[in-house]
Amino acid sequence: MKQYIIYLLTLTLIFQLSCAKKMGETSAKVKKDPFIEDLLKKMTLDEKLGQMSLFTTDWESTGPTIRAGYQNDIRSGRCGALFNSHTVDFTTKLQKIAVEESRLKIPLLFGYDVIHGYKTMFPIPLGEAASWDLFAIENSAYIMSKEGAAAGLHWTFAPMVDISRDPRWGRVLEGSGEDPFLGSRIAEARVRGIQGKQTGQTDRLLACVKHFAAYGAPNAGRDYNPAEISERVFREVYLPTYASAVKAGAKTVMTSFNDYDGVPASGNKYLLTDILRKELGFDGFVVTDYTSINEMVKHGVVKDETDAGILAIQAGVDMDMQGGVFQEKIKDGINDGRIKEEQINQSVRTILKIKKDLGLFEDPFKYSSKERESNTILSKAHLEASHDMAKRSIVLLKNDNTLPLKDKTIKILVTGPLADDKNNLIGAWSASGEGRHCVSMYEGLRAHENSKRCTFEYIKGCNVDDKDKSQFEIVLEAAKKADVIILAIGENKDMSGEATSRTMIRIPGVQEELLLALKAIGKPIITVVMNGRPLVLDKVHDHSNAVLETWWLGTQAGHAIAEVIYGVYNPSGKLPMTFPRNEGQIPIFYNEKNTGRPFNPNDKYSSKYIDIPNTPLYPFGYGLSYTSFTFGPPLSNKKLYSLKENVVVTVEIQNTGNYPGEEVVQLYIRDLVSSVTRPVKELKGFQKVFLKKGEKKTLSFTLTPNDLSFYNQNMEWVIEPGDFEIFIGGDSDTQNKVKITIL
Ligand code: GLC
Repeated sequence: MKQYIIYLLTLTLIFQLSCAKKMGETSAKVKKDPFIEDLLKKMTLDEKLGQMSLFTTDWESTGPTIRAGYQNDIRSGRCGALFNSHTVDFTTKLQKIAVEESRLKIPLLFGYDVIHGYKTMFPIPLGEAASWDLFAIENSAYIMSKEGAAAGLHWTFAPMVDISRDPRWGRVLEGSGEDPFLGSRIAEARVRGIQGKQTGQTDRLLACVKHFAAYGAPNAGRDYNPAEISERVFREVYLPTYASAVKAGAKTVMTSFNDYDGVPASGNKYLLTDILRKELGFDGFVVTDYTSINEMVKHGVVKDETDAGILAIQAGVDMDMQGGVFQEKIKDGINDGRIKEEQINQSVRTILKIKKDLGLFEDPFKYSSKERESNTILSKAHLEASHDMAKRSIVLLKNDNTLPLKDKTIKILVTGPLADDKNNLIGAWSASGEGRHCVSMYEGLRAHENSKRCTFEYIKGCNVDDKDKSQFEIVLEAAKKADVIILAIGENKDMSGEATSRTMIRIPGVQEELLLALKAIGKPIITVVMNGRPLVLDKVHDHSNAVLETWWLGTQAGHAIAEVIYGVYNPSGKLPMTFPRNEGQIPIFYNEKNTGRPFNPNDKYSSKYIDIPNTPLYPFGYGLSYTSFTFGPPLSNKKLYSLKENVVVTVEIQNTGNYPGEEVVQLYIRDLVSSVTRPVKELKGFQKVFLKKGEKKTLSFTLTPNDLSFYNQNMEWVIEPGDFEIFIGGDSDTQNKVKITIL
């Protein structure tokens, strides 16, 4: 064991030295490339500012403005990158303009929001996060990038790594939930999957970590609102995922719309230079989000767009998305010295270097293969991967043994507005995905071989979001004749995503009324929820026999849901975000502080609500299985540790139920006494393990001193002596713990 710890410490030392070297390189000038220096010398100021200008095409709009004339911008060398332009044909057409008609023939960079699939759609990222399966998530990111690259793209605006504790904010669907540790491991996996090991492979894309920073912490859960959080909370909760994605090698970072500590991210030098480049050693380029430079005028921190552009350059922005400010408005700032031309040269150098690393100067049409496009997109292997990811993303929230419908000869009523729906399965940010390629839940149920024993009746029952109850009567009549009811309800895909904050996060329309009416019929109800965010599911919980959280599962959704319902796949998902009892609890999250008056049912003067419990409906890390898992006590290798020692904790887990299955074994710590208040739990490790019926396994976790560290009152990252509790279990409510002491 001693050798093992020495080995680990050596590894840690090497890693730290390599980071220090990288940071040293970054703070000094990145070494100059003769080809790029030669090109830079030939460029006019307009051409340099053109490389720093990204515009959307008119194929689709993902923001408040659309811009004509981008083809002339390309010809004049005043646009170096485009987004919302894909397919080999379209990108080839635009690239030809750049490399045949512009003066310096600098190839274009093509970006697009390939967030959870290009054409083969995977579950929304929040759904993938529920799998806690880093290998599957990395593979999903790889396949979406492979398809995007086959469609002529070089760059995706992913991964979105914004932590959020607020399900009123519609963009939680794009991230990995509320926890910095889980979110960081997923961010790393997505960067690896998107970029691969080396830039320039024709089955990978450039990653773009977004939205830097703390975009997921808007006041009142309302999109674009300020993130008004302490530096401590920022660094401990929101910053880690960006840091992990940068350390995983992401080549680009996108700024967020919000202001952080009073300064909009696109003009925030503390964020973009002090933290991103100096602390984290980021050496790629920073692109703003859609017109967010221009929007600094509305934020009220500058008087006009020229000052906004100057502020953005001074903060560390390299590329202006859609604003046209770098292209048209900042030359005054250069002429009067507020911006040094060397700053412009540095940004252009970085952008050109990445284009060169992609191989675009050698072959601007390297990613433009019609053959690869037709052989890659929607391939059988990709559909299988989407199916696998989808089933791993499903979370079983309740089950009174109504599920699985294994080997049963039964009459099934399939109902609900999302039961045979395809279009919503691709979710928000669905790139080039098409609902028509999706397998609906009803199609999946009937396509599975298990359906041979079943007879089905399908009635839609109602719509997602209106008051029409005209089908209720026929649904209830059908329910009387059925043995079991499968009800698919939830949100439309445009009810989550950008600019979709909701104050009431229940299931909309008359869907809950349909559930209650069905409940009165007295047959078992399996409720399948399809949604982009945690919803208030109290009525669904109380009136269903079984509840499946299925998010929006993508192209193969129906097959995945069918395999879980028939028991062919034992659900293994765990919630990456807390589900509240109602909106009044928000923000609600597992890693809360204890307060000086923690809830005590026997003490009026304790922290509580007088109308509902403090606890959520479903906690972070929660998810059931068709089998059961039993944990032994966590065992530490010692009781007393020095400040520099690793803590090794083992636990035995046994499958004590009737099905083989996977369990996500989660390790949390609690620092019992420290110089600043610490959360009652912090996730610091997890392992997803498969166990046959009756099988036992012993798992080992290693906690380094860094895992037990935090920011003290001086904002120094320290580990302090004292007692810690180490919890290991199947969700964040676990009380299975061992105490250790750091001397
Ligand atoms: C949008 C989104 C961002 C996206 C960008 C380009 O406003 O905030 O996530 O990547 O514009 O579509």
